[in-house]
Amino acid sequence: MGLLLDINSNIVKELNSFAHNGTNLKLNGLFKIDSERSIWLGKKWQNFYIDFSKQLIDKEIFKSLLELAEQSLLYEKISSLVSGNSINTSENRSALHSALRLPKDETLKVNGLDIVKDVHKTLDQVELIVDKVHKGQWRGYSGKPITDIINIGVGGSDLGPFMVANALKDFRVPSRLELDFHFVSSMDGTQIFKLLEQLDPATCLFIISSKSFTTVDTFYNANTAMEWMLEACPIKKLVLKQHFIGISANPEKMSDWGIFKENRLLFWDWVGGRFSLWSAIGLPIALSIGMKNFRQLLAGAHEVDKHFATTSFDSNLPVLLGLIGVWNATFLNINAHTVLPYDGRLQFLPNYLTQLEMESNGKAVTKSGHKVEFKTCPILWGDIGPNAQHAFYQLLHQGTQKVSCDFIAPIKRYHDKKNKSKTDEFLVKQHDLALANCLAQSRVLAFGNKAVSNSGELPAHKFYNGNQPSTTILMDELNPHTLGALIAMYEHKVFVMASIWGINPFDQWGVELGKVISEEILESLYVKEDGQKYDESTESLLKAVKGKV
Ligand code: F6P
Repeated sequence: MGLLLDINSNIVKELNSFAHNGTNLKLNGLFKIDSERSIWLGKKWQNFYIDFSKQLIDKEIFKSLLELAEQSLLYEKISSLVSGNSINTSENRSALHSALRLPKDETLKVNGLDIVKDVHKTLDQVELIVDKVHKGQWRGYSGKPITDIINIGVGGSDLGPFMVANALKDFRVPSRLELDFHFVSSMDGTQIFKLLEQLDPATCLFIISSKSFTTVDTFYNANTAMEWMLEACPIKKLVLKQHFIGISANPEKMSDWGIFKENRLLFWDWVGGRFSLWSAIGLPIALSIGMKNFRQLLAGAHEVDKHFATTSFDSNLPVLLGLIGVWNATFLNINAHTVLPYDGRLQFLPNYLTQLEMESNGKAVTKSGHKVEFKTCPILWGDIGPNAQHAFYQLLHQGTQKVSCDFIAPIKRYHDKKNKSKTDEFLVKQHDLALANCLAQSRVLAFGNKAVSNSGELPAHKFYNGNQPSTTILMDELNPHTLGALIAMYEHKVFVMASIWGINPFDQWGVELGKVISEEILESLYVKEDGQKYDESTESLLKAVKGKV
């Protein structure tokens, strides 16, 4: 089996038969017959403990999943990924986000050139900017230092930096000035107009983040920001020099827009947008947490890269996350997956993962152009666990859908603080409360009410079936290093799943057509006469928009 999960292969037939013999796949029973289950399915690695024991697998299934990985040539595919082969076949590129985390003294040659040098040159450039802004030396048109950083970007040029900068607010470095961070992504203008009302143009620094530097959403927002700046300071050159930084893989487009040469930060076409937070796209993160912490984020991810490339599959965390993902989606037909962080700092992780997983693996053709004959990426969503308990857990506990869950929680809050204040103590207590809820919810979801409480016979509406599979990811504490590692685990999980399915996780052709059609429709909005250009529904909607219905 090379590129395509072969539904006729013996290993796939075997896994299908395990899945269809579902009567054995009851978590209560699986725990009863195997008292060591949480030992062999509980994996400790560095600052992480991942409990896979509440997944609907047993020893035989586990073994077969590992065999599936072998037969899918996963070892070879991982090595192709990290060595820079052109594995993004539809775009003829490599996917080298792991190279963005390589230490300075390593080398990785792609087409004869050592890309690690370029990576670190850019990191040094990022550091210079961070330093200048933090020291109050980056000044606006009136000579005042910068106080507000506004990242304008969308998708991978927004979600990653936004999620990480929020998650690591506790690690913000004190700069001479209290910096405020803002993220603008939505094309409809709500965010940017509301934000600009509150800002002083003299102290704003806009970061235009766009791999392609052509994304219309970003450029409408950037143009609005420019117009607003020019109202305050009509000297465009000065505004561009002191108030706009560009980050892109397309230097020509940056120059066309007017970004000053010294304000251009580059990354490379071998970095996918949704894998780009480690590149210069991470500038807002570095401005927020400082370069030392940003490098820790990279170091955490690099640890996972090494683990992924060298650890045998039975203890390889991203491989296990991926194999279980495939087992749930493809074999058990569980088409929904929810991510539930029990720490408000990870509020935006689920949203970030929707792009990482669904834009990567929401595909129905294989790399060789064949239609897949099985289910690929499930629908992913999530929220802070404690809030989700009061929103959609009802469906998880008593609804009719099978849903797989990832519970995520740091074990400690403010691990190293010696002199805790009263407020810190209370924060720790609240953190423990969330942790207890995390463990309780995964227990009830797995085992149902009969097994976890002795409340006797209950009316049907109080019945909890249990048997919803989940993985619990615990980390010692949330810091730049552990967050970097966590994100890299999910990146590689996505790659593992794609490798088993035989699909390309690094392109996103499914988002292109809508962009083209919307250009046509935008023109039609301004045409007075009724048209017959589109389908009836769209024509009626256009009429309604124009007030003709
Ligand atoms: O439309 C999808 C997409 O291409 C994503 O893959 C990407 O992260 C986002 O748009 C933004 O693209 P860019 O960074 O080129 O502006």
